[in-house]
Amino acid sequence: MIGHGYVGLVTASIFADAGNKVNVIGRTPEKITKLKSGDPLIFEPGLEEILDRNLKNGNLNFTLDYDSIKNSKIVFIGVGTPSGKDGSASLDQVYVVAEMIAKNLGKNFTVISCKSTVPVGTNREVEKIVKKNAPKNAKFAVASCPEFLREGTGVNDTLHPDRVIIGSESQDAIDLLLELHKPIGGERVITDLASAEMIKYASNSILATKISFSNFIAEMSEVAGADAETVLEAVGLDNRVSDKFLNVGIGYGGACFPKDVKALAYIGKQMKLDTGILDNVEKVNVNARHRFAQRVIKNANGKKLAIWGLSFKPNTDDIREAPSIDIMNELLKAGFELSVYDPQAMGHIRKIFGDKLTYYEDKMKALKGAESLVVLTEWNEFSSVDLSVVKKTLVNPVIFDGRNVYDPAQMKKLGFKYYSVGRKDIK
Ligand code: UGA
Repeated sequence: MIGHGYVGLVTASIFADAGNKVNVIGRTPEKITKLKSGDPLIFEPGLEEILDRNLKNGNLNFTLDYDSIKNSKIVFIGVGTPSGKDGSASLDQVYVVAEMIAKNLGKNFTVISCKSTVPVGTNREVEKIVKKNAPKNAKFAVASCPEFLREGTGVNDTLHPDRVIIGSESQDAIDLLLELHKPIGGERVITDLASAEMIKYASNSILATKISFSNFIAEMSEVAGADAETVLEAVGLDNRVSDKFLNVGIGYGGACFPKDVKALAYIGKQMKLDTGILDNVEKVNVNARHRFAQRVIKNANGKKLAIWGLSFKPNTDDIREAPSIDIMNELLKAGFELSVYDPQAMGHIRKIFGDKLTYYEDKMKALKGAESLVVLTEWNEFSSVDLSVVKKTLVNPVIFDGRNVYDPAQMKKLGFKYYSVGRKDIK
């Protein structure tokens, strides 16, 4: 496995736990040293335990050295593919790694497979690079085997995916990948390279579309005096739609949806297609953050706010493309003072905002002196909090809930002013 981010490390650990010998190759010595000592470098529930077990039994090894590729049957590329300025996925790391793999291929047949999300045609390009740089008699085939794990539930998602996608022209590659995935659940879809690559983008984009559609219905519901939660719950009862990914709020963030929707639109534009559907998914998502920030700016009673939740979703320390970043920037610009709390993500946020924010290790302490509370991530500890204590601690009993964590009826009973998404304000 080349790369030890969320995808690389979780997948490598699960394959090691299934009894395979897995070498994880990185490029930063300090990170490899930490990983070797059992520090996963990321917060992912359940991962540390698996990491520890497989370091001890020797199934998992971390290295800077590409030499281990010589004896590998399968090499996964799990490096980052960040968004370029134009929305395209930046493939520099993938191609550098492809060249390194090629130069280190041994005598045995090797499958080379991108786990990273890559645009259609990338695996073909990897094939060309490997051909160009591999020893003359090297036997290899490329395959696309995209990953569908979510951060925060990565271990379970990897063990029990809905489907395993394998795209390749080589039956030997397909057989090896099927063998590797034997202990893993889910339907098998065997297809060609391009379709496998498209499946990943189409999957993330349809989920992002559901979220933006829901947020548009939320915006309409606010104007119409309807309750978006009830509307979407009823819509989701139609099992052709399903009730998943219809949660309204401040929109999607993370290292995947924002990047992948933009990348798919970029590919479509290159194909001279009308990408309006994807462009608008992105537009509604950006607007969901801005709309919420503006509601806070318009309705807050004072200039001091407590912010609960900074990560792009619960159960992760990841803040990449987190709605909290845009919202806090808008609030700071409007002159607010922000006291922030997150159970995992404060270290990363501090690197961006420095002393522009006041950081609290205790969520209740963050409320002291604050005139309103703003909830930006739906961590469990926020829904289970004693709201009467929250009310007593805040200067004004005002909550802006960007993730619809609380029940408006209860908020009314407790005497809060309560603003949530797609539902009537409680004033
Ligand atoms: C997403 C996909 O769900 C995974 O299947 C995929 O493998 C991964 O991207 C990837 O491509 O690597 P992830 O970004 O970890 O996983 O998180 P999700 O749980 O999908 O949530 C993404 C964002 O959507 C979060 O900001 C979340 O708050 C938001 N969201 C999700 C909503 O606003 N509403 C919803 O109903 C669901």
